[in-house]
Amino acid sequence: MTESIIKSHVAQNGLKPLPNIKNIIAVASGKGGVGKSTVTANLALALAAQGARVGVLDADIYGPSQPLMLGVGDKRPTALEDKKMAPLIGHGIQTMSIGYLVEADTATIWRGPMVSGALQQMLKDTAWDKLDYLLVDLPPGTGDIQLTMAQKIPVTTALVVTTPQDIALLDVRKAYNMFRKVGIDMAGVVENMATHTCSECGHSEAIFGSGGGDRIARQYDLPLLAQLPLQLNIREHADSGKPTVVAEPDSAVTKIFLDLATKVQANIAAKKVDHSSKFPPIVVA
Ligand SMILES: Nc1ncnc2c1ncn2[C@@H]1O[C@H](COP(=O)(O)OP(=O)(O)OP(=O)(O)O)[C@@H](O)[C@H]1O
Ligand SMILES: [Mg+2]
Ligand SMILES: [Zn+2]
Repeated sequence: MTESIIKSHVAQNGLKPLPNIKNIIAVASGKGGVGKSTVTANLALALAAQGARVGVLDADIYGPSQPLMLGVGDKRPTALEDKKMAPLIGHGIQTMSIGYLVEADTATIWRGPMVSGALQQMLKDTAWDKLDYLLVDLPPGTGDIQLTMAQKIPVTTALVVTTPQDIALLDVRKAYNMFRKVGIDMAGVVENMATHTCSECGHSEAIFGSGGGDRIARQYDLPLLAQLPLQLNIREHADSGKPTVVAEPDSAVTKIFLDLATKVQANIAAKKVDHSSKFPPIVVA
């Protein structure tokens, strides 16, 4: 097999890359329900469509979404000889989620240390297969999961997802300040539900107000990487386990995700290379 040309790039505080994961991309938001999981699933598929080897770690311990969105459902991971778990595969994306490991609702009673432990275990005990990018779908806000990630997990870059409402924009500040404080670079802002596209006649209007993503990007000096419409079939595709990028590969929405993927790849490629991470040589017996 040929080695991918995508390199491992530096993370915060000199944290070294994990074996078999070249770059970790965190997808975060201040407010819940703004579309992090939808953006994560579609961006993962767009990166894969561009030839990268991609994984998704669902870090939302209390409300995992990726088993549904990536179409894996309630399958269970198989245990491998070295006590690792094989990631589940959805549309070619390697994934791990608490949703594959415990019954629904079990994790809802877990406290901080258990949640933090579960996240690190899912990351380190999964036999990821030579990932160029691992996307981490975070829960909303700045709680235990985000803290664990900041301290223990080497993040190459982060995306902040928001909707145009003022309240969501206010919450971007929290996510922004958190990443700043812990030294994690941000690639930029993704504005979701920027305009509503009517499924009957196709006309668009900015029902939540316009220009919010732009304002945020300027205020924090971050690029506005993408503006996605609020569109019925984006939800329908995600809920049916076939996100838009695979359900409608030639659509306008897919084009937005492909553009986003290009920008994210360019952002990462522009960062310093981390030379400490060489994959172990493959020995042919
Ligand atoms: N652009 C969009 N158009 C239509 N529906 C969308 C869009 N983006 C997300 N949705 C829908 O909105 C709901 C919330 O999206 P999603 O689960 O991705 O948000 P989230 O930020 O991950 O939420 P949480 O904070 O609960 O993790 C889902 O039902 C999803 O299908
Ligand atoms: Mg989510
Ligand atoms: Zn209409």
